[in-house]
Amino acid sequence: MFRLTIILILLSVYTEQASGGSFFLYNQVRHGVLMKVHCKSGDSDRGWHVRKYGGFYGFDFKDHILDKTLYWCNVWSGPNFSRNASFVAYESKLYKHRNNWIRWSIRGDGIYESINGATPWKFKYHWYGTPL
Ligand SMILES: *[C@@H]1O[C@H](CO)[C@@H](O)[C@H](O)[C@H]1NC(C)=O
Ligand SMILES: *[C@@H]1O[C@H](CO)[C@@H](O)[C@H](O)[C@H]1NC(C)=O
Repeated sequence: MFRLTIILILLSVYTEQASGGSFFLYNQVRHGVLMKVHCKSGDSDRGWHVRKYGGFYGFDFKDHILDKTLYWCNVWSGPNFSRNASFVAYESKLYKHRNNWIRWSIRGDGIYESINGATPWKFKYHWYGTPL
């Protein structure tokens, strides 16, 4: 029985790690308006990506055991990508558990967040300069 418990604990630790954390940015600015994204962590650069209205960009990753996972992103939108915002997209130590699912809705009036499917979305960041 004891041995079985150990195996079950190991199994749950393993499956939790395997699922990972994730974040996604949704272009919900306005019809016909593009969103450009660039995300980084301390040891990875995910490059630049452009998404149409209604599209999204994101990925999952192994959330660090010691709460050290930190990704930040720049987004650009509007005429000639003249508007931008810069924000932390995933920061392990802010959340109660590991392996969270973080979504960012990129909208004309700013940037909204939903953690693990929570609603309503929370306003978090303004665009740099005038809103779109
Ligand atoms: C976008 O950039 C182009 C080329 O620099 C310029 O001609 C155009 O006026 C710009 N559009 C806006 C809306 O700023
Ligand atoms: C964001 O926009 C401001 C104002 O146009 C500009 O000064 C700044 O360099 C931009 N930041 C990035 C990361 O593009």
